Amino acid sequence: MDDVSRMVARQYEAYAYPAPFTDLAAQIAEGYFEFGNPADYAALLWPEGRPRRPLSILAAGCGTVQAAYLAHTNRDSEVIGVDLSEASLAHERFLQERHGLANLRLFRGDLREVHELGRRFDCIVCSGVLHHLADPDAGLRALAGVLAPQGAMTLMLYGATARTGVYMLQDALRRLRVPQSAEGVAFARRLVEQLPDDHFARWYLRGAAELRDDAAFVDTFLHPQDRAYTVPQVLDFLERNGLAFGGWVDNAHYYADAALARFTPEVRGAVAALPAREQWAVVEMLTQNLGMHMLAARHAGEGTPAPEPDFASPGWQSLVPRRVPGLRRAEAGGRAGSAGVASIADNPRASSAAPAVAFSRSGQTIELGPGQAALLEAADGSRRIADLLALPALAQVPAAAREPLTREFLAQMWRLGHLLFARGAA
Ligand SMILES: C[S@@+](CC[C@H](N)C(=O)[O-])C[C@H]1O[C@@H](n2cnc3c(N)ncnc32)[C@H](O)[C@@H]1O
Repeated sequence: MDDVSRMVARQYEAYAYPAPFTDLAAQIAEGYFEFGNPADYAALLWPEGRPRRPLSILAAGCGTVQAAYLAHTNRDSEVIGVDLSEASLAHERFLQERHGLANLRLFRGDLREVHELGRRFDCIVCSGVLHHLADPDAGLRALAGVLAPQGAMTLMLYGATARTGVYMLQDALRRLRVPQSAEGVAFARRLVEQLPDDHFARWYLRGAAELRDDAAFVDTFLHPQDRAYTVPQVLDFLERNGLAFGGWVDNAHYYADAALARFTPEVRGAVAALPAREQWAVVEMLTQNLGMHMLAARHAGEGTPAPEPDFASPGWQSLVPRRVPGLRRAEAGGRAGSAGVASIADNPRASSAAPAVAFSRSGQTIELGPGQAALLEAADGSRRIADLLALPALAQVPAAAREPLTREFLAQMWRLGHLLFARGAA
């Protein structure tokens, strides 16, 4: 272990992260889910179809909860959790016992030595870890080295724009030699209160409720080692280490449709017209609110599926849509500022008295006509678009318009991050 990892390990011994909860089932019943969990995001990880066997899943730098959560929500799969911090693993063990997770194994160690387990993994989840390594590239290569040929990773890396103030404060606190201790945290909190109201660090604090917790505060402002990435840097990080970008976990933050809802159609249209990578990069600079990037990655190579479904191909009707977790019906009607779907053509309120149906997710609300709502509700990952086109709710749409409207609507739901699409038979 290098000096940086020794310091990082010390921090997570003293301030295990995230703030642990004591019952997975109760937490899940309250709506808790983790982005990138293969139980929910298989269509993102393996658009060509999930490997048809129990998965072997690695939670690299699992922290206090993640490995147990993955084992609990993927009971047919084997989960291995690795972390430097014994305090974090102790809580994983507590959850393991509490929920009878016979499919979970935990190891204390450095993810860069994970090859010593002598295993290959179908799925690797590594969130909030690689940016704490002295050499994140070496960490990513170590993970790629144990990823099965058709395996998929979900990564969370810090985003540079929203964390500008975090790095300003980290720099100041480091020069002041503020320690990772109760006194250090108390001093840093007092210092933050005296910052100008519009200081970038204050702006960040306002959006991050978890920072009331000391472990999260230390993790953010007193971390000995962290770095962040812009969109082009994320893509470059993957590609220079032999991986292919497999898609964002939540497109809403990267495509102009939702992310630039506050901009005029003129600006939104100009950004939406850019090639995808340019669009993501521009959206990130215009919104300035991406504190993390969550994405899927695969081995680069000829057979690696493209990250976006091809709605323009003749085979588009064989795509299999699936709603993402967290999308739910909401109260319809009368909300100003409902984000996103201004351009959906089949809003039947324009043509009939049918009431609108609202759905919301992560602060976005969309108001849909009955045909659109029926499409979204039927998108449960078991049926192809061709089957959805036969839904009775679409019968009122003129036959000639049904396919183009459905195609446009589903593509927009993908850009808003509400739907994922597997390719081929469900
Ligand atoms: C911010 S926490 C994230 C925990 C978890 N992945 C999650 O998303 O809830 C980072 C974790 O990575 C662990 N970690 C950092 N560097 C590591 C390394 N080189 N090998 C293994 N674990 C590491 C830390 O001990 C800590 O528990």
